[in-house]
Amino acid sequence: MLGSNKLPSLAMTNIHEVLERVCSLVEAESQGGITLVRDYDPSLPDVLIDREQMIQAVLNIVRNAMQAISGQNELRLGRISLRSRAMRQFTIGHTRHRLVARIEIIDNGPGIPAELQDTLFYPMVSGRPDGTGLGLAITQNIISQHQGLIECDSHPGHTTFSIFLPLEQGATSS
Ligand SMILES: Nc1ncnc2c1ncn2[C@@H]1O[C@H](COP(=O)(O)OP(=O)(O)OP(=O)(O)O)[C@@H](O)[C@H]1O
Ligand SMILES: [Mg+2]
Repeated sequence: MLGSNKLPSLAMTNIHEVLERVCSLVEAESQGGITLVRDYDPSLPDVLIDREQMIQAVLNIVRNAMQAISGQNELRLGRISLRSRAMRQFTIGHTRHRLVARIEIIDNGPGIPAELQDTLFYPMVSGRPDGTGLGLAITQNIISQHQGLIECDSHPGHTTFSIFLPLEQGATSS
């Protein structure tokens, strides 16, 4: 139901290409009005992903951040950081991975309303009058199709979405 029915077309991809594509889309949408801060680990290995789907997944998060900021403040006071790091020994579900990529999207907007925090990733949960509430449900669906994990931590002035993606094949089940 959520997202496309196409089979993912996986290719080894530099995740920073995905983040840069999202940045350019959001910069166009905000007419350069928002500050995007890149904090990348250039040594991060490529990930096996569907590039278009991953752009969609990250774009939904960054767009939400932009909408939250612009609902509160002048856009130019808003700041969205995109961070990438490698992490060792990380368990997703029942699988322990030797190496994962952690992508964080951090904004300085108002934070996620408390009443939404537990159901944020469910379809049809929205805090915006014109929101469909599908954005984060689609994002979570895409991340889990990539054997990844998404988490959120939010308080006023500081909201972080973290995406974890396996970087190596042949992980051991625990
Ligand atoms: N960075 C954020 N800061 C504050 N609130 C957020 C943030 N990200 C998400 N939210 C809240 O979570 C809700 C759900 O987001 P989601 O993307 O799933 O749906 P939507 O944005 O309302 O609709 P759609 O994405 O389909 O247009 C948002 O309406 C908003 O209230
Ligand atoms: Mg949204």
